[in-house]
Amino acid sequence: MRLSDDEKAMRDGAHGAAKARAMDLLVRYGEALGAERLVETNNVAGAFNASTPSIAHLAEEGFDKVYSELNLDSDETVEIPHMAVPTCQLITGIDNRNWQTQGVDEKLAELQRRSEQYLGARGVNMMATCTPYQVGNVPVKGEHCAWMESSAVIYCNSVLGARTNVEGKESTGAAALTGRIPYWGYHLPENRFATHLVDIDIDIDEMADWGVLGYFIGFAVGEDIPALNGIRRQPNLVKLKHFGAAAASSGGVEMYHIPGVTPEAASMEQAFGPNRDKQVIRFGAKERRETYERLQCATERKVDFIMLGCPHNSIEQMALIAQLLEGRRIHPDVALWVHTPHAIRQMAERSGYNAIIEAAGGVVMSDTCPAISRKLPPGVRVVATDSAKQAHYLPAIAKVEGWFGSLADCVETAVSGEWQGAG
Ligand code: F3S
Repeated sequence: MRLSDDEKAMRDGAHGAAKARAMDLLVRYGEALGAERLVETNNVAGAFNASTPSIAHLAEEGFDKVYSELNLDSDETVEIPHMAVPTCQLITGIDNRNWQTQGVDEKLAELQRRSEQYLGARGVNMMATCTPYQVGNVPVKGEHCAWMESSAVIYCNSVLGARTNVEGKESTGAAALTGRIPYWGYHLPENRFATHLVDIDIDIDEMADWGVLGYFIGFAVGEDIPALNGIRRQPNLVKLKHFGAAAASSGGVEMYHIPGVTPEAASMEQAFGPNRDKQVIRFGAKERRETYERLQCATERKVDFIMLGCPHNSIEQMALIAQLLEGRRIHPDVALWVHTPHAIRQMAERSGYNAIIEAAGGVVMSDTCPAISRKLPPGVRVVATDSAKQAHYLPAIAKVEGWFGSLADCVETAVSGEWQGAG
């Protein structure tokens, strides 16, 4: 791999041991990927927090030890300096306010708080969400980023037109200290053209439809790049957030094009660029019905847990939940957890939405989600969610049955205690 003089100096220790470790890691990682060089990045989103039981023993030796081992792959503990470039923490395992409701041990909650202080002092912005683009981290078109979290990566590449691969704890840890990431994959313009044409001949409008479409496309294209034809109604952030998260969970989709909507393709010709042998996939009423059915893995209609906010809810979604719950009470046998970034949680607080959700018996959660924390209310057997991604993961992770439907279906289910959607 070719390194600049600056990069060589970092590798050789001129800027301290931590940067030397970081540069060594990036070179090994880049060479394994076949990258010829590194690229400068000014935007890193990773996972740095010490908040799981498996990390707690490392934290006893200090947070430099945690960062060295988990974010730099270094057995030797090095002193971690201030991050070199803007860096944010993605979602964590613990809601700093609702850790007791989650059933998290007090010592672990305290460990996360101390870990955040350590990281904050080194310039890690505590966004604590899988949707950093909703709370201030909005890279511009063409910007090279180093992001983890599949639902954030697909949004970054496709909707924002910025450039990132799905990075890991180690590569983001090294990128944050050096401002570099291997130049390969989606950083290269020639790797960003569509491979599959998805011909859609039904109206896609509701958020649940976007989730179903994404789930279908993920299975159909795997890790390739779909271009969507036939979208008649302009989608918004919430719909594209759900679409991308679903496509990245049933498949490994990291980028898509919707000509006229996403910024890198004004036309199908631009979406495919030089790719001539496009594969064509059709999505119609039959495919929608089959995919919807595939997402329903419950048989029992009595539901005991409703999970909303995967990916983390926008402020409009918080407003809608409050509107649907105003003056109502959720069923006494049902737990309703609504997940949103803590910055949006504050907006929802001031707008009065949290008070309505809480008066109905719901809990507004931040910083985490059940798939990451592996924490659900005790004794849960049947879950309902408006997220195709969550419907995909929760049954496997938590050994529960799951229903998938619209936000309104889920709220009605929370009130009645029985699944109110189709299926
Ligand atoms: Fe975010 Fe958790 Fe869903 S990380 S995308 S809320 S599975």
